[in-house]
Amino acid sequence: MKVAIVGLGYVGLPLCLQFAQSDTEVLGLDIDAAKVESLNAGRSYIRHIDPSAVAEVVRAGRFQASSDFRRVQEVEAVIICVPTPLSKNRDPDISYILETGRAIAPWLRKGCLVSLESTTYPGTTDEDLRGVLESGSKMKAGIDFHLAFSPEREDPANPDNKLVTIPKVIGGFSPACLERAKAVYGRAIKTLVPVSSCRVAEAAKLLENIFRSVNIALINELKVVYQAMGIDIWEVIQAAKTKPFGFMPFYPGPGLGGHCIPIDPFYLTWKAREYSQNTRFIELAGQINTAMPHYVISRSVEALNACRKAVNGSRVLILGLAYKPNVDDERSSPSYVLLDLFKERGAEVAYYDPFVPVIRPTREHPHWAGMRSIVWNRANLEVFDVVVIATNHQAVNYQELADWTNCIVDTRNAMAGLKIKPGQVWKA
Ligand SMILES: NC(=O)c1ccc[n+]([C@@H]2O[C@H](COP(=O)([O-])OP(=O)(O)OC[C@H]3O[C@@H](n4cnc5c(N)ncnc54)[C@H](O)[C@@H]3O)[C@@H](O)[C@H]2O)c1
Repeated sequence: MKVAIVGLGYVGLPLCLQFAQSDTEVLGLDIDAAKVESLNAGRSYIRHIDPSAVAEVVRAGRFQASSDFRRVQEVEAVIICVPTPLSKNRDPDISYILETGRAIAPWLRKGCLVSLESTTYPGTTDEDLRGVLESGSKMKAGIDFHLAFSPEREDPANPDNKLVTIPKVIGGFSPACLERAKAVYGRAIKTLVPVSSCRVAEAAKLLENIFRSVNIALINELKVVYQAMGIDIWEVIQAAKTKPFGFMPFYPGPGLGGHCIPIDPFYLTWKAREYSQNTRFIELAGQINTAMPHYVISRSVEALNACRKAVNGSRVLILGLAYKPNVDDERSSPSYVLLDLFKERGAEVAYYDPFVPVIRPTREHPHWAGMRSIVWNRANLEVFDVVVIATNHQAVNYQELADWTNCIVDTRNAMAGLKIKPGQVWKA
């Protein structure tokens, strides 16, 4: 069997490897020529994806990358993993999905499966994507080609969660579409979870991400409340999580980041309006989580004040640009918001991140492009008036941080258990 995977990013590339390692020929399609070239040369551009795994499947002839969408005629299945961002006004932007649909439609073979993996609102697959596929191919979904939605469940850099063992939800446009999708995914994934429609599968993915967003907001709110009461939220969570049932720990932080949790819930908010429904939990969670960088700033002001310093003119280091530990993914990271807020208040800002040596151009934060991480050494660190730990990468030596700097604002409890001076660390 040969499958095409469109969109070779954080979701698409691991999926290519998984299929290629499961005795399936894989054609990776992406509009980014640099990515195509790099993969065909056996290189990986995602830190936690082993380049030797890419090189091996390329050498074995089981994986090839291309930008030529006509090659869709070679395959029996097309899996779409393109971005689903929000527009400036926080509305869903499914243009990448529709563009992909238009690009592949003329080349679809009869009987081919098209499966969408990008997170999106219920109805995208059987309304929007189906529309462009049917008009571009002059074929009918469920009759001439198969259509399905199967959301990606990726936990980047978590070694315990291997794609092959994470159960995969699949919804088909028709029972026959579902059967076809099960046959294709069954080659590479151990446990499949069939559901009755594409919409149920789309809704299930949104539930998973909304669940995280709401619970993170709850714990962020409790952090602020308990802080005012002189209670440490981290100790509270440690205690609460000893309950063997009915509780699941979530941890506070400087705000949401990444391509999923800050964005996906609002796909539902937008679609719910069509049905005159409100998504109050989603909105509230969004408000609390987006307020977190401001809370971190207010704690930093307190910390600087205790050292008789103002933010204006202070030198501030943001430690960790990636949105979560041990990855190089800094998309929508709250660290960018912190950089902006400190700069607006007259601080001189810098960042350190071992995985992001330089900031690439992004749509959301073009003004930070080209900025470089400082180099980790005593001379470079001791000049900062305050260091804000935004991401707790394991590769950072936090004891050195305690030894070399005087004022630390810690949003991740990274300094717990270390030798620190009284009044040196401010939890935020
Ligand atoms: N990153 C995650 O952990 C994660 C987890 C679950 C679901 N998702 C969802 O998966 C989808 C993809 O996310 P990602 O993190 O892999 O994004 P990404 O930005 O890492 O990768 C997307 C890729 O698609 C390519 N692309 C864009 N437009 C294209 C087009 N018209 N044709 C072909 N290629 C195109 C880009 O060049 C890029 O390589 C999103 O809907 C996201 O919400 C992501």
